[in-house]
Formats: sequence, C-alpha cells, structure tokens
Amino acid sequence: MKNPQARHKKLIDLINEYDYLYYGLDQPIVSDYEYDQLYKELEKLENEHPELITPESPTQRVPGHAQEKFEKGEHRLAMLSLQNSFSPEDILAFDERVKKNLNTASDVQYFCEPKLDGLAVELVYENGLLVNALTRGDGHIGEIILANIKTLKSLPLKLHGSKPPPLFEVRGEVLMFKSDFVRLNEAQEEAGQQYFANPRNAAAGSIRQLDPRVTAQRSLRMFCYAPGSIDGIKVKAQKEFLLLLNKLGLPTVGVTSEKDFAKFKSDAKSNLKKGQMPALGYVCDNAAGAVEYYHFINEVRHQLPFDIDGTVVKVNSFDLQTELGTVARSPRWATAAKFKPEQAETQVEDIIVQVGRTGALTPVAIMTPVKVGGVTVANATLHNQDEIDRKDVRVGDWVVIQRAGDVIPEVVSVNLKKRSKHSEPFVMPNRCPACNHPVVRPEGEAVTRCVNSLCPAVIKETLKHFVSRRAMNIDKLGDKIVEQLNDVGLVKNFSDIYKLRFEQLIDLERMGEKSANNLLESIQASKQTTLARFIFSLGIRHVGEQTARILAGHFGSIDRLAHTSIEELTEVEDVGPVVAGSIYQAFQDADLLKEIQDLCKLGVEFEAPSQTAKQDQTLEGLSIVVTGTLPEDRNQIKDLIIKHGGKSPGSVSKNTHYVLAGENAGSKLDKAQELSVPVIDWETFQDMLKGKPAP
Ligand code: IVH
Repeated sequence: MKNPQARHKKLIDLINEYDYLYYGLDQPIVSDYEYDQLYKELEKLENEHPELITPESPTQRVPGHAQEKFEKGEHRLAMLSLQNSFSPEDILAFDERVKKNLNTASDVQYFCEPKLDGLAVELVYENGLLVNALTRGDGHIGEIILANIKTLKSLPLKLHGSKPPPLFEVRGEVLMFKSDFVRLNEAQEEAGQQYFANPRNAAAGSIRQLDPRVTAQRSLRMFCYAPGSIDGIKVKAQKEFLLLLNKLGLPTVGVTSEKDFAKFKSDAKSNLKKGQMPALGYVCDNAAGAVEYYHFINEVRHQLPFDIDGTVVKVNSFDLQTELGTVARSPRWATAAKFKPEQAETQVEDIIVQVGRTGALTPVAIMTPVKVGGVTVANATLHNQDEIDRKDVRVGDWVVIQRAGDVIPEVVSVNLKKRSKHSEPFVMPNRCPACNHPVVRPEGEAVTRCVNSLCPAVIKETLKHFVSRRAMNIDKLGDKIVEQLNDVGLVKNFSDIYKLRFEQLIDLERMGEKSANNLLESIQASKQTTLARFIFSLGIRHVGEQTARILAGHFGSIDRLAHTSIEELTEVEDVGPVVAGSIYQAFQDADLLKEIQDLCKLGVEFEAPSQTAKQDQTLEGLSIVVTGTLPEDRNQIKDLIIKHGGKSPGSVSKNTHYVLAGENAGSKLDKAQELSVPVIDWETFQDMLKGKPAP
C-alpha cells in the first residue's frame, strides 16, 4: 500500500460516520456487509502498522479487561443539581424569583426539556478527542467510566468538524430505552441472572460495570444537555448549545424550530404516533409557555421510548444564567418540575412463592387490585430474598406500587404507618413449595432454586414452555390445560402430548367434544416445525430463540447438536463457555435423548435450514420485515422466510429489501415509506415464496 496512513484515516472517518448514522441518527446508509469489510480492513491495517492506532479509531471502542475498581476523577466545574418542584405552579414561582433576581418586570425566555431519568455523566473532549468520562459522584469527584462510555457507539470518540475546541466538557444522562430494558430483563431471566427493577437501575448497573465487555452488550444511550468547562467556543444560549452539540455529533433530545406551541404539540403527537421521536427541546417566551410544555409532556410521557420524570426549565440566555449564578448546590437559572409519579397504594394480601422453569423460586406479592397508570394491577414480583429484605415487604402491609418502565408492576415502598404490630418479616421457604425438596442458594447469588429435576412445578413450567407460541406453538393447549393434564397424570413429558387420545380428553373436567377435537388438531398441526423452534422448545437453560436459530443453522440436525463436543459448541457464533456448557450438559441426559427419539417416532418433523432443497431458497439473501395483521401468525411467517433462505429482522432499515405489511400496519410501514423500502402484500409474498421474481 502506497500510503497506509492516508488509508487508515479514511477508514476511521468512514466507519465513524457510519456509526454516527446508524447509532446516533438511526439512519444507516451502508449494508452490514460493507461495514464489516471496512472494519476488518482497519483491524488488519492496525495489526500491520500498530503505530497508526489513534484514540479515535473505532477499534478503541472494543472493551478491554475488567477492572478491580473505578478510579476517581475531579470535575473541573462542579456538577450541580436542580431544585425540584412538584407542581406547575412552582414554575410560576421560579419565574418570579428569576425576574426579581434580574431586577426586571419583562418576560424571560425559557428553554424547556424533558427531565431524563437516568444517571448524569460528564464527557471530556480535549482537542476533539474523548479523553475522559466521569459519573457525577458527589458533584466534585466522580468515578472514571471512560472504558464503559467508549462502548456507546452513539457517542463520538472524536467530535465532528475540522476545528475542535481545545476543551469541551459536556454533561448528559445515560439511560436505557424502555424496549431495551424489557428485552434485557427477559434475557437476564433466561440466563437465571439478576433482574433490574426499572430502566434507570438497568442503566446505572450497566454503566457502573467493572467489566466494560458487559457494558458493551447492554443497549445504553446518552443524551447531552449541559456544558461543563469549555474553552475555545462561545455559545450564547441553551438552544444554540444543543444545536452545537448536534453539529459536533453529540446526541441530544433535539430542538424544535417551532415557535407556535399548538404546532409543536401537533407535530410531536403525529411523530409519536408514527413511532418516531419528536424533537423535544422547546423555547418559550414566558413562564406560561413552560407550564403548557409541562402539561403536554406529562400527557405524552408514556409514549416516549425512555422514562422521564418531569421537565426542566432553564433560562435560555447564558449571559442571564451567569448573572443569576448559583445558590448552595443548584443554579438559580433552572428548575425541575417533576411529574407526580403514577403510583397507587394497596394492601398485600399474601406473598406466594412461584417455581419457574429453571427451578428459580420467585416471591410474588398478591395485592388488592388497584389501578395504576390506567391498568389494574393485582400482583407484583418481589424478585428474591434480598429485594424483600431491602424493602421489608410483609403480608398485610400497605404498599406503594408503580409500573417500572411503564410495564412491570413494582413495589416501591411500604407505608410503615399502617403496618400491623403483629406483622412478621417474610422469609423464603427452605423447601420447595411444590415438591418439598430442600432448596439451594449458592454463595453470592440472589436466586433461591429448587434443584429437583423431578419437581412437578419445574415439569409443568417446562411443558408450558414446550407448547408455547414461540416454541411448538400448540395454541389450543393453554397453561390451565397443561396443568390439568399433568395433574391427572396424562402428560408427564413432552412425548405424552403426542399420545393423547380423544377418549382421554373428553373425560377431563370442562372439556367438550369440540374443544377436545380442536386440541387434537392443534397438536397434530404442531408436528411440522422448524429445527430452531424444536431446539428452543426443549427449554435448555441459556438457549433463547436467537441462540436456537444459530444452533439450528450451524448443526443442521438435532442428532449432530446432541452429539457435539464442548469445543465445537464454543466455536459457534455467540455461544460462550457458559451457554456451551449448559447445552452440552443437557444432552448428557439419557431421558432427554429418549424424549427426542420418541417425539420423532410420534411424527414430529422439523426442517433444518440446510436440509431445505436449494430450489426452495426462493428468498435467498432477502431481508423482509413483517408487520401488521396477516392471515398467518407473524412468527410462523418469519420462520417461513428463514426456511426459504431469507432473513426477517424486527425493524426496518436501509438494508431491508421488503416490508410485508398486513392490516393496521403502524410505524414500520411509515419507516418503510420514509426509507423508500418497497412494501409488499400477502399475495405478492406468496408468489415470491413460489419463486416468482420480486416486484
Ligand atoms: S441540567 C445545574 N437538564 O437532573 C443542573 N439536568 O437534579 C444541570 N437531569 O443531575 C443539569 N434531565 O441528572 C439537566 N434535561 C436535563 C436533565 C437533567 C435530567 C438530571 C441530571 C441532574 C439532575 C439534577
């Protein structure tokens, strides 16, 4: 190569630009393949010329090893906190104080933003390069979390623009989107690992990981909103500051150019409806505007992709901010107007202990039903003994509840004033409530587990998982019937399901002729499945849908998977040692191997991706996103696409070839139109499956 240095710079610029478009703006312009090729070329070049490696190279995002503890660092400028108020009238009182301190009777211009519910972090850029990142700590000294922050691909390692300021410190909030939070908790549960109570805790837990490799796997975001110490650029107001941040490639909640509030409101609403985030920063000319803003944001808060807990009102002009100064530890130029949390108080009638598919014992509070945020809530998981101890929830207590990340009911606190003198702390049983087998709680783990493989509760949950929609999809076999069939001894293992006869079913309580026939039909229909679904159905610990799909693709048959070695398993993409060990262990069990044999004998058939004849690969290389109501179950359609050689990701991007849209398709359809991705209907899709060329 003639000029490796020039090529190195070019590669860095390209990859950083693609990262920004993909992670920062959600607008990818190249295919994953092209991106990977560039990345590999960069790695190779840096291997051959290590002297070329610079701090802004995307390879420097790759996390190193775990640390023992966080080093501490000092903030050049103290990180202040905000005065909190809980009612919009307080915004008016704040405005009065501002005017009094400025000695003016005229209206003051305010900048309004949502109050993000994450954790405050400061980024330090020197000569445009990200050189440090600190938590807020006590406001003066925080923890250095640079290695973790570097894994957030939406943050630039180097500021955009050709003339970076010598020093640019910016503060913002690290948070997790609600959808990522729900997904993370599902995965944590699948892996038998600690649960997070809400997106804020998940974000805080992820950014304060001593092992940056863990942080790298969590979908964290950051929105920047305030300057720290800055040298070399002058900015005159908060609005200009946020616009500058965007120019430098730093993510913000956006600034609307709209002056008219009604217009801002209707634009924002229509964006939210389409599933897009509206620009949320808004300038208003007086305090009344800030109050309007507060009410509007409160109205739409649940539609935002992340949790917020109020609005922040800031004097827009930086000169006026300086004039107002700070008092104690908060600025006089800003206030936080918090939303009243959507909480409710109710009584704990009982605490029951459920046994899950992995044998994990979960205490659940059964409460007098109460409405929170428009939904009736009657029970809430208390997670484990540590959580119960921390909150000291007891039977009979009055508790405050809310919905974490807008979905999961959560006990916030106990109202001790109403506690009965006779109440007693709750202690997890030392025997399994289902089989009376002694339970275990390994040192350092939060989860108490029943390890009896014959525990009826574990068996019932395993059977429920086997028949569930995303597994074998026996839709007429609901949880209640599984329990009933297991209780009467008709279904003790997977293969028993396929031996059920009409005469046996009709004898069951609450079972009519018609439902018995429907049930048998749906059992029959489930026999044709895919290898990926079958692997997922077995309920092997750590094997979720995604891993099952990868395993099916790699091994191509259940026999090969069942008789593989740990070494080969570890070589499979995305399969680490823990997952490999779990899979290997599962197939050491002779009962499971016999079950698989029996299922095959009873007519369960699965088509492996590699067994599909080449001429059936009619969708080879195509990425088709499925949305809306279609004649078949969406998951089955996705399987069909994969079976025919295609891919079916969950969201639309520039790399999507087609969007298959049914009735009532929503934001994905809009996104397709926005990105000019062709939209096809069910009939066209059927034709494509048969091999007709795509439109
Ligand atoms: S400005 C001088 N803007 O609220 C205050 N803070 O109680 C500078 N926060 O520690 C902060 N959203 O973690 C600002 N749009 C926003 C915010 C915000 C959330 C948090 C931040 C800060 C706390 C202050």
